[in-house]
Amino acid sequence: MSTAAVPVRRPPGPKSRPVVGYLPEFRKNPPPLLARFAREYGDIVYFKLGPQHTYLLNHPDFVKDVFVTHSANFTKSRILQRAKSLLGEGLLTSEGDAHKRQRRLMQPAFHHQRLIGYSRQMSRYAGLWRGRWKDGETRDIHEEMMRLTLAIVGMTLFSADVEGDAPEVGEALGQILDLFNFLFLPFSEYLEVLPIPPVRRMEKAREQLDSIIYRVIRERRASGEDKGDLLSMMLMAVDEDGAGVMSDQQVRDEAITIFLAGHETTANALTWTWYLLSQHPEVEAKLHAEVDRVLGGRLPEFEDLPNLKYAEMVLAESMRLYPPVWAIGRRAKSDYPVGGFVIPGGSVVILSPWVSHHDPRWYPDPLKFDPERWTPDESGKRPKFSYFPFGGGPRLCIGERFAWIEGTMLLAALAAKWRLRLDPHQKVEPKATITLRSRYGMRMRLEARG
Ligand code: HEM
Repeated sequence: MSTAAVPVRRPPGPKSRPVVGYLPEFRKNPPPLLARFAREYGDIVYFKLGPQHTYLLNHPDFVKDVFVTHSANFTKSRILQRAKSLLGEGLLTSEGDAHKRQRRLMQPAFHHQRLIGYSRQMSRYAGLWRGRWKDGETRDIHEEMMRLTLAIVGMTLFSADVEGDAPEVGEALGQILDLFNFLFLPFSEYLEVLPIPPVRRMEKAREQLDSIIYRVIRERRASGEDKGDLLSMMLMAVDEDGAGVMSDQQVRDEAITIFLAGHETTANALTWTWYLLSQHPEVEAKLHAEVDRVLGGRLPEFEDLPNLKYAEMVLAESMRLYPPVWAIGRRAKSDYPVGGFVIPGGSVVILSPWVSHHDPRWYPDPLKFDPERWTPDESGKRPKFSYFPFGGGPRLCIGERFAWIEGTMLLAALAAKWRLRLDPHQKVEPKATITLRSRYGMRMRLEARG
């Protein structure tokens, strides 16, 4: 019996280009390119990135399919595989059963009671920062937010004061962060084996950070003390069968993963939020009214969160317009039928919060900054996966609750005392690295609220 191969019908997409495909544009400024593809070709778009067959899926049903319903048919795309040289087998980079086990072991570190503990540190650091700023000075708010969220993740993870007691940690992490971006340059896998300066610096920074982390792990194991931080949780974690605990190497991999995944994203979300507030005085006034009413000048506590709803809506709307993770990649393990087409096994699938969050079907007048879109009534009208700044399914961001708590508390605590005004010379443009940064930083003038 002959089984003639059925020709695969390709979804629509931009005209094919030899050799590099759309790689050059994709490297330069990918979010608008993807948005244009979606506008012109619809919910399933085919294009080539270099030799790679790539499919952009835009409909919330397809997004749900990939994240949830058919998640077992997808692995992380190459870009995250590359991060393994730094992150080892941490949550972000592991796959299959190894990932399931790590996720189970890590989950208790993000339980409600633990989050309440971390929220005290968030509030304390917000207090430090707002007390440090001077009326009338201009600061790069992106840098401020990076240092603030790094300090918080350092404290919640290790009980280490990255700002004060342990500047070596901060320094090594700074280097690692730069080099983390280097890792994502195309062809960096070839550069990595060469003894060129960035590679040596990365090796050194990695060794330095490893030696600090392993020392802290040793000391903590020896003392057996539960300090209420993430590290204690990881050291105490026991698998369901009671057998598997985390090795030092696994704890190290998770610690670095959380350090990296857990601060730049939140810092970007806050940076864009301050920018948007500076451009929309009516939203800013409403936020000020809420924080004044709820906090009356004191620092926020965990119990205040249900009353800081408008602050949360502002953050949600800011992450709609500037999703800190602007695209999420997967590789199909085997042929995947979707929307009347078949995506062949081995292809890359891209889901883009940037594209979906700007889709006028779900967000009329999509460029308008309007926190009122996030009242329970309004959000209830939209399909769930029209908004996915934290991904979804088994790989949903484990720090999502942490990030909402941190973002809302920092926003409320700082807005209670300060109004931030964009420096007139500041150029504003997003830059899509792994996260969506502000290309030229974000210099803003600080004005004390009377
Ligand atoms: C606004 C802040 C944040 C955003 C927008 C964000 C976004 C994301 C997204 C989109 C993913 C899924 C990636 C994928 O499916 O390929 C993810 C995963 C992850 N995030 Fe976050 N994140 C944020 C904050 C945090 C924080 C605060 C932490 C830790 C304290 C964290 C830790 C992680 C980890 C460990 C993973 C991997 C989870 C897994 O695969 O099981 N993130 N994040």
